[in-house]
Amino acid sequence: MGCVAEEKQASRLIVAIDGPAGVGKSTVARLLASRLGYLYLDTGALYRAMAWAVIESGRDPADAEAVATLLPTLSLQMQFHHGAATVLVNGKDVSSDLRTPAVSVAASVVSAVPAVRAWLLPIQRQIGQGGAVVAEGRDMGTNVFPAADVKFFLEADPTVRAQRRHWELVAAGHSRALEETTADLAGRDTRDRSRSIAPLVPAEDARFIDTSALSVAEVVDQMMAVIAARL
Ligand code: DC
Repeated sequence: MGCVAEEKQASRLIVAIDGPAGVGKSTVARLLASRLGYLYLDTGALYRAMAWAVIESGRDPADAEAVATLLPTLSLQMQFHHGAATVLVNGKDVSSDLRTPAVSVAASVVSAVPAVRAWLLPIQRQIGQGGAVVAEGRDMGTNVFPAADVKFFLEADPTVRAQRRHWELVAAGHSRALEETTADLAGRDTRDRSRSIAPLVPAEDARFIDTSALSVAEVVDQMMAVIAARL
């Protein structure tokens, strides 16, 4: 019997995690990646970097044609150091500017632009191509990694998700009313679930987990049990 670390590296799985905002995806994806010794791919950060670039250029994120004209001038890179990712837009590190409420809403809006999704697709696949990756987003299991070894779809009650996101923002120093965060989340949900291209829907072969009443550790344990059977 080989040691666990060897087995993990030998298997180099692609683990796909999808679900709406505030469901706990990033937290559990990061923990799973660290337990497995895998790369954590936060694809939302790529959409956020795109939104940041659109805002910075003075374009309207809802103007699909204007957004498309930005793409040929744009270079976007994700660099990984000891499990932490840095996002570079035209060589500038924008990682610390991506979590503001304005960027969150703009990311949801630009992510409905087909040219943006097509432009980001090869970047995501290139990062995940060798496996040993936990990829998290909205269309990992359906579109970016349809052949992923293990797929999860996380859900939670909208009021629980809004509360979680609210505390995250407060902890990060953004003072905002819970009602505002709840409204933002509802708007993003509707956009992410109803857009015509790669909408937020579970892959047919995804395992569904309702995280409303579960702790982070309970969610991670459930997921690890499924992944361990594939290592
Ligand atoms: O996961 P997040 O909140 O950082 O994502 C920000 C926005 O990016 C989200 O509202 C929808 C979009 N997104 C997407 O459309 N597809 C992905 N794979 C990841 C994010």
